[in-house]
Parts: sequence; structure tokens; C-alpha cells
Amino acid sequence: MDDKTSSPIPGVQYHPLHPTFAAEVTGMDFANVTQEMVDEIKRALAIYGVLVFRKTGLDDARHVEMSHMFGDLDDIKPFVAGLGQTNRLSSDYLFDVGNVNPDGTITQPGTMRELLLRCNYHFHADSAFNPRRAGYSLLLAHHLPPPGHGGATEFADTRTAYDDLSQSEKDRINDWVVNNSQLQCRRSANPGNPLLQTDEFDPMKHRFGKHRLVQTHEASGRTNLYIAAHSHHIDGMPVDEGLRELLKLLDYAGQPKYTCPVEWRDPGDLVIWDNTCTLHRSVKGTYEGKYKRDLRRTTVHDMSSQAWGLNGEGATWRFGLP
Ligand code: OGA
Ligand code: MN
Repeated sequence: MDDKTSSPIPGVQYHPLHPTFAAEVTGMDFANVTQEMVDEIKRALAIYGVLVFRKTGLDDARHVEMSHMFGDLDDIKPFVAGLGQTNRLSSDYLFDVGNVNPDGTITQPGTMRELLLRCNYHFHADSAFNPRRAGYSLLLAHHLPPPGHGGATEFADTRTAYDDLSQSEKDRINDWVVNNSQLQCRRSANPGNPLLQTDEFDPMKHRFGKHRLVQTHEASGRTNLYIAAHSHHIDGMPVDEGLRELLKLLDYAGQPKYTCPVEWRDPGDLVIWDNTCTLHRSVKGTYEGKYKRDLRRTTVHDMSSQAWGLNGEGATWRFGLP
């Protein structure tokens, strides 16, 4: 991707992290975020899918303020209301994906919060389970485990994964409509755990976010494979058979040749990705249960014509609401 490292903004440079996607960006000043800068980040995201910015100096308020400049923001109210959780952060636009409990202690293995967070260890696209899926996610580091204890975030390039499929496979999967559920991810991340074998965690007893598997990524004009650990079944196919097909595709897209890890180094590190052309997952580490890993995310609704999938434009339900 060497031909795509220049930027119209003087001093801004892209340093590719992988042969087909992801780049680290230098020369952007987050002390004064302008719309020109946001537009440039979006332009580069259409190419790279994932951008890494080091030591931005952003705090919660400026993180949220900047995120509004990217598009309509999703919020955490359904999760707080539906699951009886407490929001420990200053804004309902901040999704708390770290391992810090509302009382400041470190989330311990085996607690319900930890069981639910295990979802993030599997490749996914944010909010695939909602009627309006996520477009960009902006994840900011606040507190990190000491080096050597793991906790990177790994990304997968689903446009290149699609490109590499055989023509017959492309034809076979072309019209598949996938039903996505947060509960599919939660259950499969905790196989056999009786705590999640209740109706409350049964995907079939809740709504699905329906999205096409193969679709045009409008920002780049390339084709994307929209698969996720939330994917549960395919319209018109027996549930078990659909799930088998989806798990095969998820494994395929997550092969090492399509993936790129991003190490978090310092508080203020920011990673922005496009959920409509990449997947991501959290990498396990020895920090778990011992060291704080405090990462906070804002989530921009997909602003493309594919945002609502087959869920009806303007649907107001969101996963997590009672
Ligand atoms: C997220 C997410 C992964 C991580 O913020 O949406 O999945 O590494 N994060 O914490
Ligand atoms: Mn995520």
C-alpha cells in the first residue's frame, strides 16, 4: 500500500501496518480537531479500514465531541436499561469495553461482566445485531496493563478475504441474508456455561439484526464479507446448517494472512476502524483479573445506504432493551 501514504494535509503521513489494510498515522493534531481533519480520516479509512493514532491527548469530553463530527452516534442506554448495569463513565456515548467495574475494581474471571466481555475475544463487527449497524468505532486507551501482559486488539480485512474467494463460492454465498444476535456471541464465548443457558440468553427468543453477507462497501466501491461472531443463521436455511456455514466463513476471514494486531502502548492511543469492511477482536493476556485495561469506545452509526440492512429503515428497537 506504499502508493497511498500521502495526505492532502501537510505533515500527515500513513505508515501501513499490513500488506492489504491498516495504517498508523502521524502528524495529526488532536488538540484542535477540524472538520477537514475528520474528512481526511474518513478518506483514509475508506482505503485502510483501520487507523492508529498514538498519544492523542484526548479525554472523554473531547473524544465524544470529535466523534460527533464523524456522524450520528450510538449510545449505551439500551445496555444500561436492559441489563441493569451501571454506567461508570461520564457520557452515555462512551461504551465501556475495559475490565474496570463501576466501583473501580478489576473485573474478575467468572463474574457476569467478564463472561459477557468474552464476546470481544471473537472476531466481530460492532452492532451487527442491531437494526442500524455501526459504521466507525473510535476506541481510546485510558489505562493499559504493563507491557508484556497482552491485551492488543486484532483486526481482519474482510474485503481482501472476499476478493480471495473462488468465483463459485462468491456465487454460492452472494444472496445470503444473515441473522445476527449479540446472544450468539455471548453463548459461543461461554460454551456450556449454565448461566447462559436461560431464555434470557437464547438467541431464538430475541430479535435478530438482519444484514446481507455480501455487500458493496460504498466508501471504497469494493465488496465486503459482512460476517461476525454474532452471526447465527441464514434466511431460508436450517439454523444448524446456516451456523456451520457462518462459522466456516468467520474462520476463513480470521486467518493470519488477513489479520493485523495493534498493540496499545500509551494512554491516549486511539484506534478508529470501519466496521463495514473490517472485523476486530480483543487478544487475551495475562493482565486479565490483575491489571486494568481501560478502553472506551464511541460508535458512529453506519451512514451508508446499507446501514439498516433488512431491518426496516428507522427501526427504533436496539438489542439490550427489555
Ligand atoms: C470494541 C472491542 C476490543 C478490545 O471496543 O468494540 O471489541 O480489544 N474492543 O477491547
Ligand atoms: Mn467490538
